[in-house]
Amino acid sequence: MSKIFIVYWSGTGNTKMMAELIGDGVVQGGKEAEVVDVSEIKPEVLRDLPAFVLGCPSMGAEVLEEDIMEPFVAEVEKFAEGKKIGLFGSYGWGNCEWMRDWEERLKSAGAEIIQGEGITVLGEPDNETTEKCIALGKSLTAL
Ligand SMILES: Cc1cc2nc3c(=O)[nH]c(=O)nc-3n(C[C@H](O)[C@H](O)[C@H](O)COP(=O)(O)O)c2cc1C
Repeated sequence: MSKIFIVYWSGTGNTKMMAELIGDGVVQGGKEAEVVDVSEIKPEVLRDLPAFVLGCPSMGAEVLEEDIMEPFVAEVEKFAEGKKIGLFGSYGWGNCEWMRDWEERLKSAGAEIIQGEGITVLGEPDNETTEKCIALGKSLTAL
């Protein structure tokens, strides 16, 4: 893969920070990263890629952001079979149910979740999460 896509939705910037850290990891691994706001990309761009990363915080009541990210993910589900997909996002007060549901949804569609589960963090990325995001980015360059 020449370019690694990291597509995110972020309201207050925490998930965006995670996206940029994953992009840093990709670059450190020697590949080009495309870190892109979900409102600026069509799902079709991901259709023929074997692996990519999606990020969204916990919104509503433990769901994805409903206006842009949810319909985007619904489209991705249609071609998720056989793909490796990394997931990440920030949360505020919940128990990460949104991420567990998101993982299950994409697994049911036939995708493999990179590193087995999504990266979650309370609020903005701390040191541990920073390391996890960079490691995820680097791991993508070996796929
Ligand atoms: C409308 C709204 C709904 C939210 N719902 C949840 C929720 O159900 N569970 C949770 O843990 N956090 C919830 N949060 C908190 C956000 O997930 C948290 O502030 C997160 O850090 C935002 O990430 P962002 O900076 O990338 O937008 C909600 C925030 C907003 C604004």
